[in-house]
Amino acid sequence: MTKDLTQLEILTELEPVAEQNLNRHLSIAKDWHPHDYVPWDEGRNFAAMGGQDWEPEQSKLNEVAKAAMITNLLTEDNLPSYHRLIAENFSQHGAWGTWVGRWTAEENRHGIVLRDYLVVTRGIDPVALEQARMIHMTRGVPSPEDWGGFLVNVAYVTFQELATRVSHRNTGKVCNDAIADRMLQRVAADENLHMIFYRNLCAAGLDLVPDQAMAAITMILTNFIMPGFGMPNFRRNGVLMAKHGIYDLRQHLEEVVQPVLKKWNVFDRNDFGPRGEQARQQLAEFLQKLEKDVLKFEEQRDRLLAREAARGIMQPV
Ligand SMILES: [Fe+2]
Ligand SMILES: [Fe+2]
Repeated sequence: MTKDLTQLEILTELEPVAEQNLNRHLSIAKDWHPHDYVPWDEGRNFAAMGGQDWEPEQSKLNEVAKAAMITNLLTEDNLPSYHRLIAENFSQHGAWGTWVGRWTAEENRHGIVLRDYLVVTRGIDPVALEQARMIHMTRGVPSPEDWGGFLVNVAYVTFQELATRVSHRNTGKVCNDAIADRMLQRVAADENLHMIFYRNLCAAGLDLVPDQAMAAITMILTNFIMPGFGMPNFRRNGVLMAKHGIYDLRQHLEEVVQPVLKKWNVFDRNDFGPRGEQARQQLAEFLQKLEKDVLKFEEQRDRLLAREAARGIMQPV
């Protein structure tokens, strides 16, 4: 049996790939400015400055759009906690260090632009938002003890970046506002580039240490935690988002999990030892179950929506 590579050995071996992908990222990432995406002429003072405080009628967003915006923004707000995860599990030197800094700076833009938009347009209650931010950031992101190491974390962020891309993109569609849609398309495009960096690095990890990487991927997917987990009203908002196609189980399976696994060629590789084979088998069984869960979820959702329609509850989108 071959010996596992240590964290340091993996990072050292993969540094040239990190450098290549960092350069690729820098050559295609578009510089953009949050202020260009916010309708400042809609802004006005709040009561502390002689204006009016937020009232629910001021928001033009429907309930689904509000739930999705809050969830997406609080996730972006939690950047220090994600930064910690990445900084602790990737190297802070060389191309690794440059990536960690650059990625953090790009992510910070997302929280800036979303908050500016929501406060200026009065889309959501800024006081409730601030209270939720304090709670969510104080808790940080859940990081179970066995989530340490480069492979586990690079696998997690690959799926997480793609999940946030889907979520931002679909949130833009339900806002009924061309400005919000354009802003969220911009953010989603960033998330896609981030995903590609992590996906390529995880692919290189699979080639370098197939068994270790496969075990990490299976561990992450079978224990996947959505970024918003633990935030105030996560369940309520998560259900609303799933019910209305912002991020549901089928999207998770078909738009996030499957395309990445296909790119990594997970089910057609022949470089696994017994441990990798076992992890791949476990993942295959998990995915079969997930497919069944998708159907179950959709039946429940359709019944629920039909019941709501029969009771005359307006669908918010
Ligand atoms: Fe982001
Ligand atoms: Fe991102």
